[in-house]
Amino acid sequence: MNTRYEDRPVIAILTTRDKNRQFRGNHKNFRDIIRTGKELGYLAYVITVRELNLESSYVTGYVPGPGKSWTSVQLPPPQVVYNRIPTREEEAKPAVARKIAECLEHPGIRLYNPYFFNKWSLFEWLKGSHATSRHVPATRRLRSSRTLSSMLKTHSSLYLKPESGKAGKGIMRIKYHAEGDLPYRLQIQSGKRNVTYKAASMERLWSRIGKERGDSRYIVQQAIELATCKGRPFDLRVLLQKNGKGGWGVTGIGARLAGSRSITTHVPRGGSVEEPSSMLEAMFGPERSVSILKSVSATALLIARQIERASGYMLGEMSMDLGIDEKGGLWFFEANSRPMKFDEPDIRRLSLERIFQYSQHLSRQTAISPQRM
Ligand SMILES: Nc1ncnc2c1ncn2[C@@H]1O[C@H](COP(=O)(O)OP(=O)(O)O)[C@@H](O)[C@H]1O
Ligand SMILES: [Mg+2]
Repeated sequence: MNTRYEDRPVIAILTTRDKNRQFRGNHKNFRDIIRTGKELGYLAYVITVRELNLESSYVTGYVPGPGKSWTSVQLPPPQVVYNRIPTREEEAKPAVARKIAECLEHPGIRLYNPYFFNKWSLFEWLKGSHATSRHVPATRRLRSSRTLSSMLKTHSSLYLKPESGKAGKGIMRIKYHAEGDLPYRLQIQSGKRNVTYKAASMERLWSRIGKERGDSRYIVQQAIELATCKGRPFDLRVLLQKNGKGGWGVTGIGARLAGSRSITTHVPRGGSVEEPSSMLEAMFGPERSVSILKSVSATALLIARQIERASGYMLGEMSMDLGIDEKGGLWFFEANSRPMKFDEPDIRRLSLERIFQYSQHLSRQTAISPQRM
């Protein structure tokens, strides 16, 4: 196990401990990564923050054992640390934050993606560049009902989203109908369904929102009228990764079609995985969908570069949710620095290989070049 392939970096997948099952994170994903590494001639293993000792000549990591088990073994220390700390809560713990900082400072180690993104920062970063700002829906921090009132003057429908949300958790939508006694409609996502609350006044609406969001920070955003297929809205998921030369590339584009009663397109909320070209063709015809798909790739690359520049850190991969409006315009919803796995087999395969191609590139960089931008 301890053989290190010549010129090939050793890659540690970094996560945190779990009392019941050795370590946290998506074990199946880690297994796929390690298997792909082996096929390509790389040693990869899982390590927890506690066990990643940067100064020792060996470390204790995990490799796949029989069945679904993992075996704890002594391994050579990594040159590349692939950061898969599972949640923002874990990332915020002092011991974890210290280890990330140590990896960033260590001359012999390259770290893939130091931190999670915050939704609000992403919008600030993208508004900061002319090329990306036109793809950003109007977005503000949700601090008072005044923000809502003022945004409802220009947009009849708004999305409310937690700043550190994921998988559609906590998302709400407001619609304003001028006629009738109950002009405000609030849709709250819960599981595969959503409940609708109607309010007579902004005060009522605000207090209901307050109950729902507790003390989480939220952003409020102009709702985009998404293009539809079979009467349901869809959006696109783009996976971007750096390649063996250290440049950004689009690994693949997937589409998600919303479930019939959902305000988002997430699969656990009734959404389905679809082919982007067939979604686009339904709405725009074959010729325009080819040109839209090209501009999706080009725009996603612009956005990724701007995010990396503004974040101040070298990044290796991200996924992006993009909406297409009924006129074919492109809108940025969010980017995630710890992409979930894509179920499309071709995208999946390439995404696993890219991890090693980029790791190889990282390990060739001189030890003194900084990891901050
Ligand atoms: N401003 C918006 N207009 C229209 N649909 C939106 C908007 N924001 C989010 N959505 C829908 O909700 C989904 C989830 O939003 P997103 O910001 O990605 O949150 P999460 O982190 O929970 O995935 C998007 O993929 C899209 O389908
Ligand atoms: Mg999302």
